Amino acid sequence: MPSNTLTRTRLAIVFTVGFAAALGPALVAATPAWSAEGGRPSISKKHFGTLAGGEKIDVYTLRNSGGMRVKILTYGGILQSIEVPDSRGRPANVTLGFDNLSDYVKKSPYFGCITGRYANRIAKGRFTLDGKTYRLATNDGPNHLHGGAKGFDKRVWKADPFRRGGSVGLVMTYTSPNGEEGYPGTLRTRVVYTLTGDNRIRMDYRATTSRPTVVNLTNHAYFNLRGEGNGRILGHELQINASRYTPVDKTLIPTGKTPGLGGTPLDFRAPTAIGDRIDNKHQQITRGGGYDHNYVLDGRGLRTAATVVEPDSGRVLKVITDQPGLQFYSGNFLDGTLRGTGGRLYPKRSGFALESQHFPDSPNHANFPSTVLRPGDVYRTTTIYAFSTVS
Ligand code: BGC
Repeated sequence: MPSNTLTRTRLAIVFTVGFAAALGPALVAATPAWSAEGGRPSISKKHFGTLAGGEKIDVYTLRNSGGMRVKILTYGGILQSIEVPDSRGRPANVTLGFDNLSDYVKKSPYFGCITGRYANRIAKGRFTLDGKTYRLATNDGPNHLHGGAKGFDKRVWKADPFRRGGSVGLVMTYTSPNGEEGYPGTLRTRVVYTLTGDNRIRMDYRATTSRPTVVNLTNHAYFNLRGEGNGRILGHELQINASRYTPVDKTLIPTGKTPGLGGTPLDFRAPTAIGDRIDNKHQQITRGGGYDHNYVLDGRGLRTAATVVEPDSGRVLKVITDQPGLQFYSGNFLDGTLRGTGGRLYPKRSGFALESQHFPDSPNHANFPSTVLRPGDVYRTTTIYAFSTVS
C-alpha cells in the first residue's frame, strides 16, 4: 500500500473545509481522506476517551501552513497540545497536558481548559446581585475557584470544525443550565478557536443569559516554551503591559486596591526573567508562593498584554486581549507528581499561565469593572496566543 494511502486510512476523519462559512456552527462538509500534506491547513477528529458516564470525548487536530499543530478536546474545550517550531524550525509541544482522559478528569490543575463560569476566585463562594445572595461551591480553601466543583473545564463541549481562508478552527458550544454550580441564569456559551496561517490561536468567546448573572471566561493553558516536560520556566523573559495590579489577602482574594507596580518585584513592564525575583520576600510574592496575581492591563481594546521570550529555543509568545486583567500564575502549585503528555514529570514552576480575565472577585468589588451579564446583553471577548521566534 503506498504510504500516503496508509496515512489516509489511519486518519480517523479528515475534513475538507473549503466551503465553511465564518463563525456559525456546522460549517464543514465531512469529506474523509484529505490531509495537510504540502502545508495546507487541515482539521481531523479522533476518539480520545470515554467518561465514566459513557460520554465519548474527541480530540481534534488542527494544522496550519506555519508548522503548527494544535490538539483540542471536547472535554473542557482543552488545548491539549500546541506544537510550535523553534527558531530553527524544530517543533515542540509548548503546553502542559496529559495523554489520556482519566488524568484530565482526576488530576488536572486546569491544564489548557475553558475556565468558567467565573475564572479565578470569588470570596467565600458568595455574591449578591440585584439584592439576592447566591452561594457557590468553596473549592479553594474558603473561596470559590474557576467555576466550582464541576466548572466549564469538566463539561463536554460540542465542537463544529470550520475552515476560513488559511485558518482552521472549532466552534465549541456549551449551555450551562440555570442554577448550575449555584450561578443564576441559563448561560449559552460559545468559544471559537481559530488557528491562523500566521501561527496564532485566536479565542472568541460569546455568552448570553436568561437571568442576570456574572461571567468571566478564560483559557487556562500552561506554557513552557522550551517544550512541556523540559525543565522549569524560570529563564523565560516576561514583559507585561500593566502599571497596576490587584494585591491579595492570604487566601488570594483581592484587597480591592489597585496600587502601582513601580518599585515592586512584581513589575514586569521591562522584560525580566521570571526566575529573577520569584523568591523575593515581598509579602505579595510570599502569599502567592511565587507569582499568582492579577495585573491591571494598560490601555483598552485588543492590545498586547504580555510578551514571553524563551532565549534557548527562540520561541516567543504574545498574549493579545481586550480584557482588563491578566492573571500571571508561575505554576507554583505544580509539585513534580503529575506526569505530562510526553511522559515526563512536571516539577514546581515548569509551566506558567497568562489568563486574560476580569479581575478576581469582581462581583464583590463595586470599584472593579463589572462582570454582570443581563438578559438581552451579549458577553464577548477575544484573546490571542500569537507565536513567533527570535534568533
Ligand atoms: C490560580 C492559581 C491556581 C491555579 C489552579 C490559577 O489561575 O491563580 O492560584 O492554583 O489557577 O491551577
